[in-house]
This record gives sequence, C-alpha cells and structure tokens, in this order.
Amino acid sequence: MEKIKEIKLEELNPEEFISNEVEKITSKVGDDLAVNALSGGVDSSAVTMLVHKTLGNKLLTCFIDNGLMREGEPEYIVSLFKNLGVNVKLIDAKDKFFNALKDLTDPEEKREAITQTFYKDVFSQYVKETNAKYLFQGTNYTDVEETIAGVKRQHNILEQLGIDTEKEFGYIVIEPIIQLRKTGVRTIAKALGLPEEIYNRPPFPGPALAARIIDEVTPERIKIVKKATKIVEEELSNTKAFQYLAILHKDKVTGVRNNKRDFGLQIEVRCWESKDALIGTPTRVPYDILEKLAERITNEVLGVVSVTYNITKKPPSTIEAI
Ligand code: XMP
Repeated sequence: MEKIKEIKLEELNPEEFISNEVEKITSKVGDDLAVNALSGGVDSSAVTMLVHKTLGNKLLTCFIDNGLMREGEPEYIVSLFKNLGVNVKLIDAKDKFFNALKDLTDPEEKREAITQTFYKDVFSQYVKETNAKYLFQGTNYTDVEETIAGVKRQHNILEQLGIDTEKEFGYIVIEPIIQLRKTGVRTIAKALGLPEEIYNRPPFPGPALAARIIDEVTPERIKIVKKATKIVEEELSNTKAFQYLAILHKDKVTGVRNNKRDFGLQIEVRCWESKDALIGTPTRVPYDILEKLAERITNEVLGVVSVTYNITKKPPSTIEAI
C-alpha cells in the first residue's frame, strides 16, 4: 500500500489543490464514465462538486437512501445540489440495508453489513447499469488513520484494508481528498462554491443513524432515533459545537407516566467540542437547554422515559456510540 501523505492546513492552497486535482482526475478518467455517492456531508459534497466541475456529465452522482439518514435528508440534499446545477439520482435502497442489518447487534458486524450492502450490492449494480469504470469517494485522512490504528473501521476504507475494488466490486476507486483532514475539506468545499450550510455542516457518520443505535437496527428503532436526533439538532445547533447526537440504548428502564409504571427506552445525548474528531470534550451545555431536551424527547418521542447527557471525554469515549 502506498503511504498517504497528509496535507496540513497551513500548507493547503485551495486553488492550487483544486487545479492539481482537476488535472489528475482528467488524466485518470479520460473518456470513461465515473460515479459517486453523495451523502450530503462535507466530504462527499466537496468531492461531488470537484469532480462535477472536472468531468461535467461524465460524472453520475447518486444519493443512496439507505433508510438510516436523518429526517428529510435525501430530498433536502438532492434539491440543494439541483440548485447548484448538479443532477443527483435518488436510489431507494432502504429494504436492502434493513435486510442486511437484521439480527445484527455487534457494532463492527453492523458496519460491515452496511459496507457490503453499499459497495457490493447497491453500488455494483449502479456501476453496471451506468457502465462506469471509476468510483469517486470522499475518504479523508482521519478515516484512514483511525481505521489503520484499529479504533473503528470507517465504512469507506477499502484499499487500506487490502480490498481490491476492481476485482471484488468491478470498479476503481479514486479518493481526491484523502490527504486532507476535515478543516482542509471545509476550505476546499468553500473554494468550490458550496454554500455555508454545506461547508460548515457538523460531521455525520457514514453508517448514519445506525452508528447511534445500540443493538439491532430496525425501521422502528431508526424512527425513534430520527425523532430524537431532530430535537437534539434543533436545540443544540446554537451551541456551535463540533457535533451533537442522540443515541438509542438497548436496555430499558423503569419510568412512571400517569401514576403508572412505564418500562421504557433511554436516549443518551452527546455534544462535542473538537477540532478534528480525534480527541473531544463534552460541551458545557447550559442546564436549561439540557432540561428542555429531556422534556421534549420524553414528550415527543414515543416510548422514551429517560434522557441522559454524556460527560465523558474522547478518549476513552469515542464520538459515536458504536
Ligand atoms: P468516533 O466515533 O470514531 O468518530 O470518535 C470520529 C468521527 O468520525 C465520524 N464517524 C464515522 N464516519 N464512518 C464515517 O464516515 C464511520 O463509520 C464513522 N464512525 C464515526 C463521527 O461522526 C465523528 O465525527
């Protein structure tokens, strides 16, 4: 495996980086077709814009609706990019992902199921249908580092784990932002003309809300975490924290509603201060906001009787729960 060299923020000249990448992409792809999946995160958005500007309609972009995204997210991202002149095909793959996740409880097995469904099933089919030879993806330097260090397997790491994508999946993967960390990617995204709501978006994990469900991921449990996530994002966006999230626990606890025992669900809220997600500190969220979160989540998310706020640093915690 070729060693990847990080481009540090202070060494990054966005215009130079973009023009170098445009040149590299043009010479690699030639007259062939390429595909990419947009998720709406900074990384895949930057790659979509960079490659769209380079290859025009030789790049076919899709948004894979895996059923694990936040409420309204697929439609929001497809329409935002449409306004930027990029056509994005929405692929409904919800059933495939839920079937692959059925009965799985182990975090790494869940990640593996998502990876396999994404690359081997949905993407391979898209590549076959479109006759594309290349797949562009927004792997960044931190993804590589954390996977190699064995902290967590990031869903988009393939080659670094010895996976030959051409042999296994039928396409060649190109990763134009692999030398950059998140802040570098944000700089490039801005220089590419993406709006602030994209280049300043809090990070969101590749396995999406499945990274925030302890135990089995089912459509019903996704619905619960989706609702809690919406509330957490509404209430915590003003904190300008690095990332904030809601986690659905496996264990139930005894609660009381209308003077009756209610054995219900637990939601854990996390809110992080961090620069690059490698280390993190919980935000000192004002107590009245925490109280409002507890009130809203227990009132608006059916079945939840307990809301906690996590006060652990990373390390030893990680940002997500699985
Ligand atoms: P952790 O949980 O490892 O997260 O402290 C570090 C950062 O990476 C995001 N994250 C992921 N992103 N695939 C991704 O693309 C993943 O499997 C994954 N797991 C975590 C997380 O949201 C945080 O910003």
